[in-house]
Parts: sequence; structure tokens; C-alpha cells
Amino acid sequence: MALYHFKRHRLSFDLRNPLEPVAVPCGFCLVPWDSALLEIHAKAKHASFEHEVDANVFNCFATRSGCRRLMQEIVTRENFVPEATWLLVPIRSDVIVPSAVPPREFIRSLQQQGVRLVQACGTIQGLAVNHLLGSVQNLGVAPGFRGQGLGQCLLQRALLGFRQRGMDRVILEVTCDNFGASRLYERLGWKFEETTYKCVEILDRY
Ligand SMILES: CC(C)(COP(=O)(O)OP(=O)(O)OC[C@H]1O[C@@H](n2cnc3c(N)ncnc32)[C@H](O)[C@@H]1OP(=O)(O)O)[C@@H](O)C(=O)NCCC(=O)NCCS
Repeated sequence: MALYHFKRHRLSFDLRNPLEPVAVPCGFCLVPWDSALLEIHAKAKHASFEHEVDANVFNCFATRSGCRRLMQEIVTRENFVPEATWLLVPIRSDVIVPSAVPPREFIRSLQQQGVRLVQACGTIQGLAVNHLLGSVQNLGVAPGFRGQGLGQCLLQRALLGFRQRGMDRVILEVTCDNFGASRLYERLGWKFEETTYKCVEILDRY
């Protein structure tokens, strides 16, 4: 075994700054957290992360069961923030997205219109560090759906959720080799706070 130190950046976003409106790209819908969605979040997370650099940093991302365990661990924590936890699902153009209804009802309405939530292509979760500080967990968009504003949409919706909970700042960590994600955060106004290192044991083949 060899030890490898992955360099990561902690970034922060000041929620007292104006937030960009959440623009959901045409043909997609944001679905609020409900416990019935755990497996679907795990599936979307696995599809988003399994071939990415973070699957080397956190081996739970490499398998569906690892993603399920991670989801379970997040949503059963006392500091879980459902308002910052969202699923992104493709929908037909004739689907009517309900507004101002509880998550169960929202989900039932989509299902009654034939939306297959299991086809979800993006996921994000939120935790609270304390009552003023939120933490973004595991933003992921499946490979075939990237580059059309879905990552930005999930992130902006999560930020709004943290703000609705009365928080004034949000942090996240990104692996430095993750250039696409780092560019996205920089473009959206996230600021560098500090460098951290995640120490991982890697099988040494030589
Ligand atoms: C990082 C990640 C979530 C980004 O998702 P995404 O849906 O591609 O993100 P967006 O489409 O919002 O933004 C990505 C790019 O698409 C471009 N884009 C945004 N809206 C667009 C649109 N309507 N049409 C075309 N391109 C668009 C953006 O300009 C952005 O370009 P950039 O790379 O120069 O910043 C995705 O790549 C992913 O899941 N990666 C693997 C998991 C991961 O590493 N997550 C981050 C953990 S910290």
C-alpha cells in the first residue's frame, strides 16, 4: 500500500451576496428531498462520480452500494439540511411541475404524469456545520447530461435552501485535479478559503 495525499480546496460562498435566480433548463425538473428518493439519489450519485477523480479520493463513490451507504449516512445525521438536497430529473415538455406543495405530493404528481424519477441525472445534498454555516455535499451530474447548466442549477437551488434555513455562508471542498468543478465554482463566485489534504491508501503495484 502507498499513501497518496489528494490536495483539496475549501471554498466558501457568502449568502449575503445577491443570489442568481435558479434557472432550470428546459426539459428538466428539480425534485425536493423525500426519504422515498434515497435509492434514486444513490443511483444518480454513482452515475455522476464512478469514473471521476473523486472516486479515487472517496472509494464509496466507486460502487452503487457505497453511494447508498453515503446517502444513508448523510440523511440520518442531525445536521442534514433537506432544503439544500435536490434531485434533477428529465421531464417531457407537457409535464406540469407542481408548485408550493409538500415533497410527497410533488413526487406523486410527477409520477401520475408518467415521470420516471429513476432516470434522475443530478443530485446534491446539504449539511449544517452550525446554524449559520452550511456545507454542500456531492454535487453530481451524470456524464451524458453535463455542459447545459444542470450543475449550476442544482448548486443555486441548494444555496437558496441554505438561505431559507437562515444561514449566511456555505462551504464545500473540491479536489484540485477536478478542473471542471473548480471552474464552475469560480465562475459562480465561490472564494478560496484554504488548502486541505485527504490522505488515501492506494494499492502499490510496483
Ligand atoms: C462538476 C459537475 C457537477 C458540473 O456539472 P454540469 O452540469 O456540467 O455543470 P454546468 O453545465 O452548470 O457547467 C459546466 C459548464 O457548462 C457550461 N454551461 C452552462 N450552462 C450551459 C448551457 N446552457 N449550455 C451549454 N453550456 C453550458 C458552463 O459554462 C460550464 O463551463 P465551464 O466548464 O467553463 O465552467 C459535473 O461535471 C460532475 O458531476 N462531475 C463529476 C462529479 C464531481 O466532480 N462533482 C463535484 C464535486 S466537488
